Amino acid sequence: LVPFDDVQELRKAKPTTIPERFVRDMTERPTLGTASPFPDTVPIIDLSRLVKGNNDEYESEMLQLTRACEEWGFFQVINHGIDLSLLESTEKLVKDFFMLPLEEKQKYAIVQGAVQGYGQAFVFSEDQKLDWCNMFALGFRPHSRRIPKLWPSKPPKFSETIELYSVEVRKLCKHLLECIAMTLNLRADFFEEMFGVAVQGLRMNYYPPCARPDLVLGLSPHSDGSALTVLQQERGSPVGLQILKDNKWVSIQPIPNAFVINVGDTLEVLTNGKYKSIEHRAVTHKEKDRLSIATFYAPSYETELGPIPELVDENNPCKYRTYNHGEYSKHYLTNKLQGKKTLDFTK
Ligand code: SIN
Ligand code: FE2
Repeated sequence: LVPFDDVQELRKAKPTTIPERFVRDMTERPTLGTASPFPDTVPIIDLSRLVKGNNDEYESEMLQLTRACEEWGFFQVINHGIDLSLLESTEKLVKDFFMLPLEEKQKYAIVQGAVQGYGQAFVFSEDQKLDWCNMFALGFRPHSRRIPKLWPSKPPKFSETIELYSVEVRKLCKHLLECIAMTLNLRADFFEEMFGVAVQGLRMNYYPPCARPDLVLGLSPHSDGSALTVLQQERGSPVGLQILKDNKWVSIQPIPNAFVINVGDTLEVLTNGKYKSIEHRAVTHKEKDRLSIATFYAPSYETELGPIPELVDENNPCKYRTYNHGEYSKHYLTNKLQGKKTLDFTK
């Protein structure tokens, strides 16, 4: 395992020092303040209208969802039906986990060749730039992917709360995928059937404040390997997530109690590029810390993937090859995060 510095400890010891390994090359540095003059850029989907809305509301919300997937690859969902107290307790317990002493967190450290645990993922060489972030990743489904010794005993109730949370987020993913299938004129259960026992995992990200947010990145630019990603941002979090829209970095304003949803590489391939997996990154803040919880929802590793035949025709010739999702995941997890580069695997 390539050694790295724990960002929280670094910040505690020397609040104003940014070690060289975190300082980005000129071309990668975030130009803070110049991104997105417009707040609330990505579309907002009111999920209650897709459940019990009247016909007009349902139709207009489905159109909005189609547009979100085609033009943005990102949207926020409100009125998603998940108990707000569950979101609050999840957020609090995840924060409490990151606030534990380093020795406690290191019991769950990522080990060589693995992707679950506490630390930094996607670090493969000594000269690679590091993200200003500590993360904690856990596999949730299928059950066989869970590593019980990585589920922390502290803070109390952490593991059972994450379990409850993940069950609810799973329902949300299924519902969103049903709606997305219908926007493509596919049967509602199309993805559910194709995916088999879907893979679900979490990545919790903690970004300490950074004395020089202009020099570092919280999270390197990347697209997600999932079908869908569901992101919760802590209440009161500063802006941190940015997406690359028409070659410009656009900030996503946190909305309390909303989830940020994005199309992952898998849906881009399945839809033959109609819906796009968008490159995104996280930036840091000078005074404020930031917490986010990402859930990845993807097909089972056995699934063979390629553009859905109904979405390929003379005007939309097939853009991706057919491949096994397990092999794709392995490729994704053994390469550093680098824009949309992992999608080269599908060409
Ligand atoms: C974040 O917004 O903190 C992370 C986004 C991601 O998981 O890519
Ligand atoms: Fe991501």
